[in-house]
Amino acid sequence: MASDTKIAVDGPRASRPHAGQRPAVREPLAVYIHWPFCRSKCPYCDFNSHVREQIDEGRWSRALLADLERQAELAPDHEVVSIFFGGGTPSLMPPDTVAALIERVAALWPVAPGLEVTLEANPNSAEAKRFAGFAAAGVNRLSLGIQALDPAALHFLGRRHDRREAIDAIALARDTFPRTSFDLIYARPGQSVAAWEEELGEALTLAGSHLSLYQLTIGPGTAFGNRAERGETLAADEDTAAALFELTQERLIAAGMPAYEISNHARPGAECRHNLAYWRYEDYLGIGPGAHGRVTRDGGKVATLQWRAPEAWLAAIEESGSAVEEMTPVPRDSAVEEMLMMGLRLAEGVSRSRLEAFAGRTVEDLFAAALPRLVEGGFLTLDDYRLAATAAGRQRLNAVLAALVA
Ligand SMILES: C[S@@+](CC[C@H](N)C(=O)[O-])C[C@H]1O[C@@H](n2cnc3c(N)ncnc32)[C@H](O)[C@@H]1O
Ligand code: SF4
Repeated sequence: MASDTKIAVDGPRASRPHAGQRPAVREPLAVYIHWPFCRSKCPYCDFNSHVREQIDEGRWSRALLADLERQAELAPDHEVVSIFFGGGTPSLMPPDTVAALIERVAALWPVAPGLEVTLEANPNSAEAKRFAGFAAAGVNRLSLGIQALDPAALHFLGRRHDRREAIDAIALARDTFPRTSFDLIYARPGQSVAAWEEELGEALTLAGSHLSLYQLTIGPGTAFGNRAERGETLAADEDTAAALFELTQERLIAAGMPAYEISNHARPGAECRHNLAYWRYEDYLGIGPGAHGRVTRDGGKVATLQWRAPEAWLAAIEESGSAVEEMTPVPRDSAVEEMLMMGLRLAEGVSRSRLEAFAGRTVEDLFAAALPRLVEGGFLTLDDYRLAATAAGRQRLNAVLAALVA
């Protein structure tokens, strides 16, 4: 396995306390960086991802650095705990651009010991050739989009890689990075419980300490969404999907990787720090087209949203140094809803004290109408420290949330 990240623990601008002076407590910050390009568009994909014949890599690198510099002003007193290169397909980024962005983060803020630096990668052999370059740039966690180990399913999902490339990329990633994860998509049409059990069993033999297992969703406006509107069946029926979800939970618990979030499984201590920042409603910056952020201001949250189309985003950055389309304070009620929506996805649930501080009211007072019913029904638990959804509650989270905030 590879050695740890190459980043210095403190960047040049980090403030070091003088002797006898207590270091200021800094808020944790997660930095998300979006690369919006892919080699082809997968038919199920609803992400801000685009296919372009040519990409001016120098311009994109300068623009992302400029965006980072500008947005750093929104979160000056923080300590960076995570950097996440997401997409699109960030494994198409030049490793030099990745290195420059990581270095700039470390120059702008102090970084936490054990800073997590994740990059999402597609397992095509051409991209696997860049893994060593990404590790040298400071990436210490690779998240691979495997999606399926079954050749027919890879074809159905419109993937450009085959089963062999997937297995080889996992092995190479585990040899190159200290931490790895991969994604699979299940609840595909016609997928039986027995077939998923076999695929999952194989995934567990290949996996490191983290797996993301998503149920296929068919979004409007995607190629699958359009075909579904014309009457095609493109996902498993509800009962089969529920059976596949339950099997997933059982197998992953037995393998020592319980779900710490609805679709994410890890050995204890191997949870993705970056995604935890979203689900715990901590501060994060969104760099790049369509990326959004949340930062704390005057005890509340401010939401940022960037231009979504890559060309509009690039033009805005080059003209004015900023492509933030909207920057709006999140009203208190909405912040409470966001905190719940994110936090109840986690097995650990939401911190009662943080929720009450945001709301200015007790949890019992906030949710007087539905809370007793949801606790008695076995969907929520509440103690002095946390409000959490049970496994049954997490499986029906939309209904639980709707009842709580009605
Ligand atoms: C940003 S995406 C893709 C990362 C990378 N470009 C790839 O395709 O491998 C992150 C993950 O979301 C999941 N995903 C995307 N669309 C999905 C959908 N419609 N249903 C379920 N999972 C989806 C996939 O597992 C994917 O790897
Ligand atoms: S799933 Fe990944 S590779 Fe496919 S279009 Fe979406 S972001 Fe691009």
